[in-house]
Amino acid sequence: MENTIKLVGISGSLRKGSFNTMLIHAVRELLPEGMELEIVSFADVPVYNADHDTPAAAERPESVRIFRDALAKADAFVIATPEYNYSIPGGLKNAIDWASRGTDAPLNNKAVALMGATPGMWGTVRGQHAFHPIFQFLNMTTVRKPEVFIAKAGEKFDESGRLHDEATRKVIAQQLEALKKLISQLRNA
Ligand code: FNR
Repeated sequence: MENTIKLVGISGSLRKGSFNTMLIHAVRELLPEGMELEIVSFADVPVYNADHDTPAAAERPESVRIFRDALAKADAFVIATPEYNYSIPGGLKNAIDWASRGTDAPLNNKAVALMGATPGMWGTVRGQHAFHPIFQFLNMTTVRKPEVFIAKAGEKFDESGRLHDEATRKVIAQQLEALKKLISQLRNA
């Protein structure tokens, strides 16, 4: 029998009422069979300082250890993020930096699905492009297609925060199926 695939989901936004946090919760509703999702926040992760990022993991700040340990449980990641100034929100980039170093780096060599929501017109397309060099450096394998760019997010989530737009739900489900297939290919490679 197939083992359950453990996903860790990260929202790139910390604000209450974040569309991207709503989006990562929608992912949980749309998971293919055989996948489970834990949502992890980087809210407590401090600004990166290499002086505190020692090879002895026990010496990293406690909040960083908790964050890295949560990510280490993942077979793969789902990131739902806004774009800030056409790029990656600083808090998320900072958290990625903390999770990228050392022989036990929990992001490296894993699969990732990327999606984003904005009230604006372009669905985070510019911001998502900024992730690809990072994934390359970390030897992460990203789902190429379908891409998930959610524009006019205010029209797609209801007041309770549920994603109600059927076309958007469909493309997310397709991306998650593509992630499942990608993980299987990587396991069998
Ligand atoms: C934004 N926003 C934004 N939107 C966009 O489509 N392209 C952009 O480049 C930016 N830049 C940007 C920078 C900063 C610093 C902020 C705070 C916001 C607007 C952004 O998409 C909007 O606030 C979203 O609602 C943020 O996502 P959450 O918090 O709803 O998940």
